[in-house]
Amino acid sequence: MIRCVARIFVTRELPFEALDRLRAEHELDVWEGELPPDPQALRERVAGADALLSLVTDPIDAAVIAAAPNLKAIANMAVGTDNVDLEAAAERGIPVGNTPDVLTDATADLAFALLLALARRIPQGAAQVRDGEWRTWEPAADLGADLAGATLGIVGRGRIGAAVARRAEGFGLEVLYSSRSSGVPLEELLERSDFVSLHAPLTPETRHLVDDDALARMKPTALLVNTSRGGVVDQAALRRALIGGTIAGAALDVTDPEPLPADDPLLEAPNLLVVPHVGSATVRTRARMAEMAVENLLAALAGREMPYGV
Ligand code: GLV
Repeated sequence: MIRCVARIFVTRELPFEALDRLRAEHELDVWEGELPPDPQALRERVAGADALLSLVTDPIDAAVIAAAPNLKAIANMAVGTDNVDLEAAAERGIPVGNTPDVLTDATADLAFALLLALARRIPQGAAQVRDGEWRTWEPAADLGADLAGATLGIVGRGRIGAAVARRAEGFGLEVLYSSRSSGVPLEELLERSDFVSLHAPLTPETRHLVDDDALARMKPTALLVNTSRGGVVDQAALRRALIGGTIAGAALDVTDPEPLPADDPLLEAPNLLVVPHVGSATVRTRARMAEMAVENLLAALAGREMPYGV
């Protein structure tokens, strides 16, 4: 059998065993920077590549794809593929793979961690202790919201939304869903929910789904959690809603842009918790995501269908 050695551009150093499997069969060109390549560097480095292993931080747009005349496969080490121009790839017949399922539980866990942190004011309490402001056990200080008996609205009915719903059941929450094709209308979900958790992919239809109007429909006591994509929320509207008391708090694992600059006006808003896009960041999950990306590339480069194709 003749085995063709392909040149694969990997957009960041990935300290996972999976990469050794790629290296055993192909030639790897691994981006050496700790930060992602900028668009020009990305175009330059992908130019000579037969395949690409990209991360959520890499915009694989039409220009990047056009810059790589030999490109035959793109494996995105993420479940979301909004950073990849799928149409431009399809026009060239380039298969695109992602890493579904394996990060479902980790991301649902994070959504719940954020919900609990917001509902029980954990960041505020921790800061109080650290700053020496904890005076005594107070009957009516640091009061949060109960989960049991409250209503959780889940926007998006995919794998992660369903995993959040399973957790919600254990906490005694009532669950409402809203998705493109099922559940209650979004307006109703927003009006009835005590907590809203976003699990919709970023598409032209879902960009700024949570805008001024959506926030105005939420209860003033409601909490918003976003572990999907930053672009699903209009951050200027969210800032207004938090400052004006339209809703009571928000926790974001994802922002637009990422990273969110430390002087972004959003960070002036009260009752806001932002973490650095860590939904899938567990040891086992990230290792498995790397394996899936590698399996996608090995299959495509051997002329087989990607096992986790988009
Ligand atoms: C992370 O955000 C992913 O899409 O995997």
